[in-house]
Amino acid sequence: MVQRGRHSVSQDRRPLFRLPIRRVGRDPVTCQYRCGSACAHPAPNTSTNPYFGDLLRQNISRRNALMAGALVLQSGLVGLTLSASADSSSGPAPEAPGRLTFEPVPTNTRDAVVVPPGYQHAVVIAWGDPVLPDAPAWDPHRQTRDAQERQFGYNNDFLALLPLGDDGRRALLVGNHEYPNPELMFPGLTAMPTAEQVLVMLAAVGMFVVEVERVGSSGQWQLVRVGPRTYNRRITAMNTRFRLTGPAAGSDLLRTAADPAGRHVQGTMANCAGGVTPWDTVLSGEENFNGAFVGANAAPEAMRTALRRYGFDVENRGWPSAEIADERFDLAKHPNEANRFGWIVEVDPYDPRSTPRKHTALGRFKHEGAATAVSRHGHAVVYSGDDERFEYIYKFVSSGRVDRRGNAAARRQNLTLLESGTLYVAAFAPPTAAGLDQGGAATGAAPRARGRWIPLARNGRSLVAGMTVTEVLVNTRLAADRVGATKMDRPEDIEPDAATGRVYCALTNNSYRGAADNPLPDAANPRAVNRHGHILEIVEDGRDLAATAFSWSLPIICGDPADPSTYYGGYDKTAVSPMSSPDNLALDAAGNLWLATDSEYALGGNDGLFVTPVSGAEAGYVRQFLSAPIGAEVCGPVITEDRRTVIVAVQHPGEMSGSTADSPASRWPAGDLPKPGVVAVWRPDGQPIGT
Ligand code: FEO
Ligand code: CA
Ligand code: CA
Repeated sequence: MVQRGRHSVSQDRRPLFRLPIRRVGRDPVTCQYRCGSACAHPAPNTSTNPYFGDLLRQNISRRNALMAGALVLQSGLVGLTLSASADSSSGPAPEAPGRLTFEPVPTNTRDAVVVPPGYQHAVVIAWGDPVLPDAPAWDPHRQTRDAQERQFGYNNDFLALLPLGDDGRRALLVGNHEYPNPELMFPGLTAMPTAEQVLVMLAAVGMFVVEVERVGSSGQWQLVRVGPRTYNRRITAMNTRFRLTGPAAGSDLLRTAADPAGRHVQGTMANCAGGVTPWDTVLSGEENFNGAFVGANAAPEAMRTALRRYGFDVENRGWPSAEIADERFDLAKHPNEANRFGWIVEVDPYDPRSTPRKHTALGRFKHEGAATAVSRHGHAVVYSGDDERFEYIYKFVSSGRVDRRGNAAARRQNLTLLESGTLYVAAFAPPTAAGLDQGGAATGAAPRARGRWIPLARNGRSLVAGMTVTEVLVNTRLAADRVGATKMDRPEDIEPDAATGRVYCALTNNSYRGAADNPLPDAANPRAVNRHGHILEIVEDGRDLAATAFSWSLPIICGDPADPSTYYGGYDKTAVSPMSSPDNLALDAAGNLWLATDSEYALGGNDGLFVTPVSGAEAGYVRQFLSAPIGAEVCGPVITEDRRTVIVAVQHPGEMSGSTADSPASRWPAGDLPKPGVVAVWRPDGQPIGT
């Protein structure tokens, strides 16, 4: 993202068009350069919200703070391996994990998708492939908005595979397109893109739905390329009208000249991760939307604080961006348009004519994704991370209950669940001395630290002093600042397991932690200059996802296993695959946690997909299952219910400093321009993946 430190130097040096949220430069040299110098504008969270690092700073030295972190890791060890027995009185024990036996993929820099011996893979769909049956053939030299709106978009991220029919032969592949790379999309681009090229880019982001079919009886899936394909759909930043729901819909903060009622928004963008709801709709997180706008410097004075808090540059107009093609992206003219992005959107892929919605009850921030599960008493619980340095972890609990009758009336009811409920933000307390002693004495209990969910708004009422409910939901970061939420190391995917009450969160990295005047390490973010990230495990009280308090631990601290600050569940670190910057997570039916990375180059290799059991003797035995082509990250892992297929999104192949469509750093997958695409991995012998 343009607002991430590691990309911003290029932003300064290369005044190329950045629309919307483009990023450049992923090679280690550039990265070192960035991290070592201007890596940046400051993180937008400058709130004085007390964080546990302050408490540590008051009482102990930084070295001791890190030791405290290390002790938390020990707690994590016990939490990871013993939590099933420790908490056995409060619910069913987790299923024993299927033992993983594949040969790990070594760290590498090949311009290819690499899978373990004995596995096969193939591209399901890639940039420019037909989505609508009448899509024209892809021609990068003559690309148009009209063509792109009918074709597969750019930089696929989140993926979901939803069944179509009962025989397991057909499915809907649904997903996100996060952002464009103009330098890789347009051969011959040497200056600012034209208005038509900007429209192509706006048509290349958003979401997609395509019909796919199983190849024979194998684990391979392929795109349906003939027939009516009635479910196929492209949702873009321009072509799709969304309805706003929830308490902030219709409010003054959401009204614009084009939408004086404040109830409809044209388009979605910056769609990063997402989730499938228990009623089989798809949620998508609008993440780094701010990069599409200019003109925050001329927005009304009353909006400045909030704009700054969301990463808008309120001092300068900014580089030309989406306003080249659509004036609404100029905040000098349409300031409230900024408030109409940054939401969780819900799409019903089974109804291609349905109007997708943006749910204000879930709050507005840079949503990485939105993972939904059902609480003990039937409420829908949605976890969502705000992916920026020192931002927060949130959850939403619906006031209504999930109707499981499985008929049309039930589905209609379930489709309203995300319109009303309680929005919480997380605060993590450090482990108590008693908890640490308990871990040292190996009493058998899980010596976790405690945390709580602080309510921000409930059923249309604000629970934050001095803010209206509209202000809480539209400027959620400001609300969370006021209540003492914990500043985290870039919360990405969050993966709940309703059966065990465990919730896994990827904290991808934060090289600013403890640097300059930034917050010091704290218990939940224990490493200074955290380049490689970590995994946080929450266990909700009573194994109830709707609980308002929890215990937590850190089962994995990523990085080179030879680095003493790393921790892999207590497993023998000489056996694990090095992993940096976990981003997307998935739990499979056997209880294994899959982790896709975004910045593995920090360890000298291409990004990849990794997997570890989360309990049992091999908890923390992280092994690399797949690596991506040069410059690409791996997103959206889907492990099918039958565990015969792993599907990943290969995002931004060839995205490196100096890489262009005319001289790309990657030519994956077809030998010409690099193309983001979806890859299926399966075993020719039909056996479950990983075993
Ligand atoms: Fe779009 Fe947080 O990764
Ligand atoms: Ca992500
Ligand atoms: Ca990412």
